Amino acid sequence: MPIRMKRILFVEDSEVLLQLYGILLADESDRWETTVAPDGQAAMELLRRSAFDVVVSDMQMPGMSGIELLAEVRKLHPQTSRIIISGITDQAEAADLLNCTHLFIPKPFDVKTLKATLARIGSLDAYLKDDQLRGLAGKMRTLPSFPTLYLEIIREIESPKSSIQNIANIVAKDPGITAKILQVTNSAAFGLTEPVTSPVEAVQQLGMSTVRSLVLSAQVYSSFKASPVKNFSAEALWTHLMKCGDLARTLMRREHASFTESEDAFTAGMLHDMGKLMLADSLPKEFEKALALAKAENIPLPAAELEIFGATHAGLAAYLLGLWGLPAAIVEAVAFHHTPEKSDLKKFSALTAVHVANALCDESEAGNLNLDYLAEVGVADRLDDWHDTAAELAMEQTA
Ligand SMILES: [Fe+2]
Ligand SMILES: [Fe+2]
Repeated sequence: MPIRMKRILFVEDSEVLLQLYGILLADESDRWETTVAPDGQAAMELLRRSAFDVVVSDMQMPGMSGIELLAEVRKLHPQTSRIIISGITDQAEAADLLNCTHLFIPKPFDVKTLKATLARIGSLDAYLKDDQLRGLAGKMRTLPSFPTLYLEIIREIESPKSSIQNIANIVAKDPGITAKILQVTNSAAFGLTEPVTSPVEAVQQLGMSTVRSLVLSAQVYSSFKASPVKNFSAEALWTHLMKCGDLARTLMRREHASFTESEDAFTAGMLHDMGKLMLADSLPKEFEKALALAKAENIPLPAAELEIFGATHAGLAAYLLGLWGLPAAIVEAVAFHHTPEKSDLKKFSALTAVHVANALCDESEAGNLNLDYLAEVGVADRLDDWHDTAAELAMEQTA
């Protein structure tokens, strides 16, 4: 089946980058028709004449900023996928202005990340734009705001003066999050002989990147109050998220994925079911019904959620993470953790790892492994090995 050519517009004030964009997709010229514009005004002129499938814009540009431009694109062509390239700290501040249909490429980016984002944009963007999902997100009592402690840690890591002590000081500001991080550090998975009792030791043992992901997950988690929903335990969910994050990252490392990809899988694993907390918090009665329906009819929870809410916990969490501007690899892994076949990216990725980890680290999810998808991305023969890895990890965790 011939694939329709997609039209993409890159907007960037740096001449060097603009040239790079011009040739970036040259090897995929049967799929992408590339146009470039040096600033927001030039881009608007092009956009007034015709629509594009995707607009990729730099954030900081003289004259019209990337945010102003994408806000105009949204008005003019609501169906266009909007991607911004920026530092994540800018992104967190800009999230409200952008609405959530955009995706985000962190700066400094590499060509691989940009191409991988474009490869997944069609399916992911359409998924996040789904009316039912947006309707459900609108019913949330409050959407958790961007976790400020997480932002502080990113800023600290990015700063040339960053130190373990400074990161530990940020963590220590919140006793609840400190407790959660010490709990994870002291869990058997890390195999420490002496218990860790201070944030500094925790950062030393875990590394900055893991602490960053843990703070994100712990802060989202702690923004929800205890849930009254029957047959749902937030504590049990937290344990599931930790196990899944750990296993997803281990699987990525086994497959020799890069550091960033492995960390993305860890973060996505730790966040993938946050939508359940959102539902339990905002729509407890309906969520209780969904849980009961899944049990009574012996169907997966997402199927019951679709029936009751028109969208799923996976979609809801992805919607929130998209709103916060998390990298597309993480948003995608969360969005499709139950339905990986819906992703356009047909290769082993953080999504594959989270999908498999979710099924292998929890008996009740074991039936949800999509073997056809694993075959499609060429890793079906790795499953036995991954089963062993999961069993080893589970042994360590309960030792
Ligand atoms: Fe899930
Ligand atoms: Fe899960």
